[in-house]
Amino acid sequence: MAEKKVEQESRPDSNGMEKIVSLCKRRGFVFQGSEIYGGLAGIYDYGPNGVELLNNLKRLWWKANVYDKENYYGLDSGMFKHPKVWEASGHTSGFSDPLAECRECNTRIRVDKELEKVGVTADEKMSETEINQLFDAHREEIKCPKCGQKNFTPARAFNLLVKSNLGDFTSEGTEPVYLPGEACQGIYLNFKNVVDSMNPKIPFGIAQIGKAFRNEISPRNFLFRTREMEQADTQYFVKPNENKEAYELIKQDRWDWYLSIGIKEENLRWKQHENLVFYAKDAWDIEYNFPGGFDELEGIHDRSDYDLTQHMEYSGTDVRYTDPDNGEKYIPWILETSVGLGRMFMAVLSDAYHEDEVGGSQRTVLKLHKELAPYRVAVSPLLKNKPQLVEKAREVFAMLKKEFGNVAWDDNGNVGKRYRRQDEIGTPHCVTIDFDTLGEENPANKDTVTVRDRDTGEQVRVPVTDLIGYIQ
Ligand code: GAP
Repeated sequence: MAEKKVEQESRPDSNGMEKIVSLCKRRGFVFQGSEIYGGLAGIYDYGPNGVELLNNLKRLWWKANVYDKENYYGLDSGMFKHPKVWEASGHTSGFSDPLAECRECNTRIRVDKELEKVGVTADEKMSETEINQLFDAHREEIKCPKCGQKNFTPARAFNLLVKSNLGDFTSEGTEPVYLPGEACQGIYLNFKNVVDSMNPKIPFGIAQIGKAFRNEISPRNFLFRTREMEQADTQYFVKPNENKEAYELIKQDRWDWYLSIGIKEENLRWKQHENLVFYAKDAWDIEYNFPGGFDELEGIHDRSDYDLTQHMEYSGTDVRYTDPDNGEKYIPWILETSVGLGRMFMAVLSDAYHEDEVGGSQRTVLKLHKELAPYRVAVSPLLKNKPQLVEKAREVFAMLKKEFGNVAWDDNGNVGKRYRRQDEIGTPHCVTIDFDTLGEENPANKDTVTVRDRDTGEQVRVPVTDLIGYIQ
C-alpha cells in the first residue's frame, strides 16, 4: 500500500550542522579521521556512501568542465613540487593567517576571524604590526572561545604551508618540499607542456581535481575548514586584457552548474572580495547558505599574469605563449575557478536534507539529484525467507546492476525500515519483488514490480521489462 506523505519539509536550521554530522556518521558518509585514536583535527574520511557521492560530484564536475567544453583539457599533476614553486607563488612569504594564543588556556585563535565576529574587517595584506594595532584596539571585545578570558599573546603571522621531509635524507641544508597549499599550481607548472603537446589556441582552459593541505589554525564546521582538502579547479588562459567578458561568462557558468546539480537558487549568492589576496585582480565567491549561514563555497578569481610571470622569473624557463597567427609572444592572463569538494559535499547534503512524515511516521530524507545519490536504486525481496521471491529479486538486481552499477541489495528488516534507510541515503527508487511479481496474487501483475519514489512515497507497478527505462 502506498505511504501517505505529509508536507512538512524543512532544511536544517542553525542546529542543522549537528544533524548533518550525525547522519553522515550513522549512514557511512563521513567519519572523523583516525577516530579510534581519538581523532585528528581537521581531517575526515569518506565512508562507503560518502565516497560514492563524492565520486559522483567529481564525475559531474569533470563532465561540465572538460567533456561539455570544447577548449578545456584535463590534468592530474603530482602533489610534491620543487621547493621554488611555493616561493614563486608567494606562499612561503604571504600565505599566512594571524595567530594569537590565549595565555590562560593556550587556545589558538585566528585574529582576523575573531575581529570579523565583532564587525571589523582585517585586510589580507596587513603587516603583523598593522594587524596587532587593530587587535589591540578591539581586545576588550574578543574573548577566548574556550575559557572566555581576554588575555591573548600578540598576533603573529602563521604560515599555512605543510612541510614534508621528502628527499631530506640528511636534515641539513635542504629546502623543505611542501605539500600543495593550493592544487592549481600544478596547472601553471604544466601550462607549457599542455601548449607544446596539445597545441591549443588561446583562449583555452585546464581542469584538475587535486589535493591541497593547509595548517588551518582552527579547523571548523565539519568539512568546511579542514587541513586536508580536495580542490576542483579550472584555469582559463586568455590574452592580456581580454579578461572581463570571459570572467563574467565563467561566473555565470559556475552559478548555473550548481543549479544543474539540484542546488536551490535561493541558497546561493554572490560576494565580491573587498580585500584581495596577494595574487588576485578581482575575486568573487559563490556563497552557499550552510546550516550556520551564508559562507564561501567557490572562489572565482582574476589572477592576471601573476602566476606565469612568477614561474617564468623563478624557473628561468620561457613559458610565454606564441600566437600561431602572428607570432606574437605573451604571458596569458588567468581566470580561475576553485571549489573545495568538502564544501561542495556539505552544500549538496544541506540542500538535500529534509525531515517530513510519510506513512504516519517521521523520516529524514536526502532529496539528492539522482546522478549524485550513492545508489541509483535499491532492490528488495518482500520477504527474505521466501526463495522464489529472493531468486526473482536477484534476477532484477543483476539486470539493474549491469545497467547502473550503483544498485543496492537491501533485505534487512521489514519493507518500511528499508525505505527509511534508503531515504536517509537519498536512493531515488526502491524496487520490491512481491507475490504479485510471481503472479501468485493477481495474474495481471505477473512480472511487474513495485517501484517506490523517494520524494513522494508514491508506489507504482512497473513491468520488469520497462524497469530500466522507468528508472532512467
Ligand atoms: N587556488 C585558489 C585557492 O586555493 P582559496 O579561496 O584559498 O583559493 C578555493 O580556495 C576553495 O577551496 C574555497 O572556495 C573553498 O571551497 C576551498 N577551501 C579553501 N580552504 C579550505 C579549507 N581549509 N577546507 C576546506 N575547503 C577549503
